[in-house]
Amino acid sequence: MELDAVIESHREAYLTDLFEFLRIPSISTQSAYRPEVERAAHWVAQRLRTIGFPTVELIATELYPLVYAEWKPHPGRPTVLLYGHYDVQPPEPLELWTSPPFEPTIRNGHLYARGAADDKGQFHIHLAALDALVRLGGRPPVNFRVLVEGEEEVGSPSLYAFLRQHADRVQADLLVLSDTEMLPPGVQSITYGLRGLNYYQIEITGPARDLHSGVFGGAVPNPLQILCELFARLHDRNGRVAIPGFYDAVAPLARAERRQLAALPFSERRFRQQTGVAGLSGEKGYTTLERLWCRPTLELNGIWGGYTGEGAKTVIPSRAWAKFSTRLVPHQDPARIARLVRQQIRKLLPPSVRHRFEVLSTGRPWVADYRQPVFQLARQALSEGFGRPAVFIREGGSIPFVAEIDRRFHIPCVLMGFGLPDENAHAPDEHLALENYFGGIRSVARFYQKLTGLARGR
Ligand code: BES
Ligand code: MN
Ligand code: MN
Repeated sequence: MELDAVIESHREAYLTDLFEFLRIPSISTQSAYRPEVERAAHWVAQRLRTIGFPTVELIATELYPLVYAEWKPHPGRPTVLLYGHYDVQPPEPLELWTSPPFEPTIRNGHLYARGAADDKGQFHIHLAALDALVRLGGRPPVNFRVLVEGEEEVGSPSLYAFLRQHADRVQADLLVLSDTEMLPPGVQSITYGLRGLNYYQIEITGPARDLHSGVFGGAVPNPLQILCELFARLHDRNGRVAIPGFYDAVAPLARAERRQLAALPFSERRFRQQTGVAGLSGEKGYTTLERLWCRPTLELNGIWGGYTGEGAKTVIPSRAWAKFSTRLVPHQDPARIARLVRQQIRKLLPPSVRHRFEVLSTGRPWVADYRQPVFQLARQALSEGFGRPAVFIREGGSIPFVAEIDRRFHIPCVLMGFGLPDENAHAPDEHLALENYFGGIRSVARFYQKLTGLARGR
């Protein structure tokens, strides 16, 4: 049988299998779900075994297990390191889901479930492609190492530790993953750049306990107000981050790249409709795609403190908190940026309050030279799988593992994304278009076949 025929005849089987995976609420940010996260790890391991991987291990870590598998049947051919994550974001707010997040449902050609796009559905494309290839040839066409983690949504702490200790186990000629998005529907995309991410939390303490705002207001510092003033001062009038040194290492945009980005099929109007905003904002002097993909930002992600219940309560809160983050681009160094952010905060806060500043996670930015041969093979595979041409894009999201692999091993990282920006990753009603799921399987399987002709790097 032919590849497409094998895939076609297993449509139902692959979907049923993916449904099973999506039913496991593997929410890594909530410790109450630990057993479920671990169940997802076992599920992935078992699936790799049934595909035929001779070596499959669950590697215990301080948090959630890594799934590691190996199948290297072709000494002369390249080795792929396939990466994915089996953890998902929390589904809340539950009342905004049309069907329950962990009961996968198909509506209008889209599969709805938490993890459908990020990343269970996209990773499953590779499982299905491998399954089809093994059915066809008895083994995969090239060598494989597979590494699947359960901590991606919490910053991949254990994965970094694993990389440091077991560099030999991730030795490969290229990294492959599907955990990104495409530009508009119908335009297959290969991502050659991601932003990095530093995530911070700050706590401000004023009075030793909450105070009556009539009795004390006007004479004691209000931590909530001070926090608001602090964030109001972290951007300037041109939408730039007002932290000295923040832009020092930022690679200027090459004119050729600006031209390429401008030629991509991107509609600002559609983008505005998708986000539901009345108008766009951002750093002056850059287009929307440049702001999203090539420029660093500082975003306030959450702010809380004081009274938020029903009715009025006249109170000066004792403490106030905020979570915020910086998206980073080449060649910003996350550690240096964290120092600069901390310094500026220290400088801006008045001596009347105390504060505690924490860096919750860091991750490097990444950008690749996509003129390398593997990227062209990926483009051909996508064109064949979908019957239309693919484009090269950068993205604003972060997958710190990619940057880490590039930095340590200097191997090409091929990111074939099958999600769409309006598929609600991290939000209610997350979904994945079945067209992209099955087109993804056809493309990824072809890509692995094409790799047989690639020269081995190591
Ligand atoms: N799959 C996303 C990253 C992504 C999304 C890349 C869209 C490109 C386009 C990943 O699961 C994710 O959500 N990453 C987090 C960072 C992580 C360190 C918590 C992010 O980008 O906020
Ligand atoms: Mn993801
Ligand atoms: Mn995510």
